[in-house]
Amino acid sequence: MMRLAGLDLGNDSIKLVYEGSQEAVVVPNIVTPGYERHILQEEDAPSKALDVTVYSPSLTQNNRRWFVGQLATELEDNTELEDTDNKALSDQSLIVAITALAFTGLTNPAYSSSSSYSQADEVEFVIGTGLPVRTFAKFREVFEQRLVGDHEVTFHSTPQLKGRKVRVRIRKAVVSIEGAAAIFNLATHDNLQVRDEEIYSGIIGVCEIGALTTDLPVIRRMAIDNHFSYGEQMGLANYLDPILREVEDQFGYSFPSRAKLAQRIKQRDFVIQRIGEGQANIKPIVDLYFTRAAQRVVDLIKKRWKKCPDIQCFYVIGGGAAALKPYLIEAAGPIKLRFVSDSELQNVLGYLKVAKSRMNQGAFAEITQ
Ligand SMILES: Nc1ncnc2c1ncn2[C@@H]1O[C@H](COP(=O)(O)OP(=O)(O)OP(=O)(O)O)[C@@H](O)[C@H]1O
Ligand SMILES: [Mg+2]
Repeated sequence: MMRLAGLDLGNDSIKLVYEGSQEAVVVPNIVTPGYERHILQEEDAPSKALDVTVYSPSLTQNNRRWFVGQLATELEDNTELEDTDNKALSDQSLIVAITALAFTGLTNPAYSSSSSYSQADEVEFVIGTGLPVRTFAKFREVFEQRLVGDHEVTFHSTPQLKGRKVRVRIRKAVVSIEGAAAIFNLATHDNLQVRDEEIYSGIIGVCEIGALTTDLPVIRRMAIDNHFSYGEQMGLANYLDPILREVEDQFGYSFPSRAKLAQRIKQRDFVIQRIGEGQANIKPIVDLYFTRAAQRVVDLIKKRWKKCPDIQCFYVIGGGAAALKPYLIEAAGPIKLRFVSDSELQNVLGYLKVAKSRMNQGAFAEITQ
């Protein structure tokens, strides 16, 4: 059985959503080399201990063992992506994405087509996915080629999945543009009927703040404006990294990963425990850098709006929008910005809808043109 899924290969986290399911699966985009773990207490969910070997014709390093996602965020030698990485070509992003498709395919029986004659399970997909404005034109084709095909994941110490091997077959990948797909999601219902006439037939500015890129597509009646759409090689990570360094310099405290710091900020838990009995509050450091980030983003938005005064409203989305919201409102002053809930999931929900409309040959397919 083939499944339709939206897959957002975020530099910070991979998001995955299946047709007919409301819940998104989010896996931090982090890997470390894997090894035989000493397990004192088994994790209570597969997502907490993704310990895999991945084979794919698209990878340059094959048949290596990796700890993926949450398991890797705790370890010191993990690799997070840098702003020189291109997600269309990144081995790491592909490893995390294939692992995410494999474990969700195995753990939810509705998604898998268990073939009784073979030990290897197989899961088959058509996926909707996306690339940033700046890489879209040049890398769309190679990205599609890397995704489409047969990949293989073997689980090692992952609870409930030990020793399982699964073939992940991607039949087709429909690639949209980050930020634009999010607007498609906001404009339509799940059945692709128009939900919001203003967005659907208007001229909409978008500022999608990710971890490493910020995309500013302009959408005219659901089509991308080639002339005014634009992307920046900058994201929240450019501000999280100096916060990590500053916390280290001031308090001698190091977070094991950027993701760990982001998690703390999300939970609004700013107190760190220093070695010994001292505690320290890192909120002033976060405020300092987030204020700067917000100022920079608001400058980008103002510039865009000035260049394209037809824009009726500006949506600020992505995980960065959730993180920076109060700072952005402050920096924007009289300029009204629109925020939405589940900001970081808008793209992946949009990718799924775009793929669906393509498969239906629906009326809205032009957003991917
Ligand atoms: N509610 C929140 N509070 C604080 N930080 C957040 C929140 N939500 C997301 N973030 C952080 O915002 C950043 C951007 O998140 P997002 O999920 O949009 O990135 P991504 O899609 O993985 O990256 P990219 O779009 O560059 O590929 C990440 O560093 C993430 O940890
Ligand atoms: Mg993103």
